Amino acid sequence: MAYNSENSPVDCSLEIDTSVVAGKTAIVTGGASGLGEAYVRALAAAKVSVIIADVDPTRGNKLSSELANTKYVQCDVRKWKDQVHVFEEAVKFSPTGRIHYVVANAGVARKDEIFSFEKDGPTEPDLTTIDINLQGTLYTTKLATHYFIKQNGTTQSKDKEDTGLVLIGSGAAFLDCPRGPSYQATKWASRGVMHSLRRTAHFYGSRVNMISPWYVQTNILKSEAFDHVRRSGVDLAEAEDGGRCLLRILSDPSINGRSLFLSPKKWAPAGFIDLNIDDYAGNERLQEIQMDQIKSAPIELGLFGASDY
Ligand SMILES: NC(=O)c1ccc[n+]([C@@H]2O[C@H](COP(=O)([O-])OP(=O)(O)OC[C@H]3O[C@@H](n4cnc5c(N)ncnc54)[C@H](O)[C@@H]3O)[C@@H](O)[C@H]2O)c1
Repeated sequence: MAYNSENSPVDCSLEIDTSVVAGKTAIVTGGASGLGEAYVRALAAAKVSVIIADVDPTRGNKLSSELANTKYVQCDVRKWKDQVHVFEEAVKFSPTGRIHYVVANAGVARKDEIFSFEKDGPTEPDLTTIDINLQGTLYTTKLATHYFIKQNGTTQSKDKEDTGLVLIGSGAAFLDCPRGPSYQATKWASRGVMHSLRRTAHFYGSRVNMISPWYVQTNILKSEAFDHVRRSGVDLAEAEDGGRCLLRILSDPSINGRSLFLSPKKWAPAGFIDLNIDDYAGNERLQEIQMDQIKSAPIELGLFGASDY
């Protein structure tokens, strides 16, 4: 679907027609736990074949043994070769030999070593968060778009089979989250990937969207951390709503270039909502600047543009 910045926010109250996704094949990175597990469960229930790509074989194999049409493939998303292997396995596992959906979900939240004062002088920071959340997501993006292009070609046509990349943001992809610049940088970065791809993905019959979860109790933080959040008077969102949010995106080919917020029920009865933050609605100056941004390389020039400079 061609990107249109005039698109109105996604109606998250609609019934989800999962017959659209049945029989398709998906990859979920970090699919063995937490939100990734919820995406895997929702996809499997909708009769999608799912590759669970995760660094944790114990959880990955356990989940796959419980759910039909799923397969665990060990993968550290920081390793290019591991991710290549995941996509090769997905093609073999797919009933159609095609990969339709990729969820770049694997992520960690570690103590931030960029914003930390060390009285004896600064030491080299550990950037594992960048390696997993950002480098891993870029590898996943490269492979997903490669397979989508290989399957569908690069010219526009209405006959192409719908494919979709879903990137995972966070409240930290658009809110101020003090004291965690590394994590926040990776989540804004995922948003950047979505914004870079969304206007041209239709050339290869694809869509790119984002799910940005609010706090959800998973293994990303210790349970004490989530207790503390609750005690502060903050409601949490629910992992199962993440699964439904994913199906809402995948089952509706009109959704492209949107980020849906996985929300506590107090802000969204469905458990997810389109906050309409992707197009600076109502800000005519920014809309005009955006048009100038792509004036010298218009979308009509095709997937890779016209020149190498
Ligand atoms: N839970 C939240 O409150 C919350 C909020 C906003 C965003 N998110 C995002 O949701 C995503 C999933 O997080 P979660 O909360 O489900 O956490 P989780 O810890 O429960 O699950 C993360 C999964 O990723 C896997 N993983 C970690 N490093 C990996 C690597 N190098 N290669 C492959 N797999 C790896 C883990 O084994 C685990 O199965 C992350 O991108 C996270 O940033 C979570």
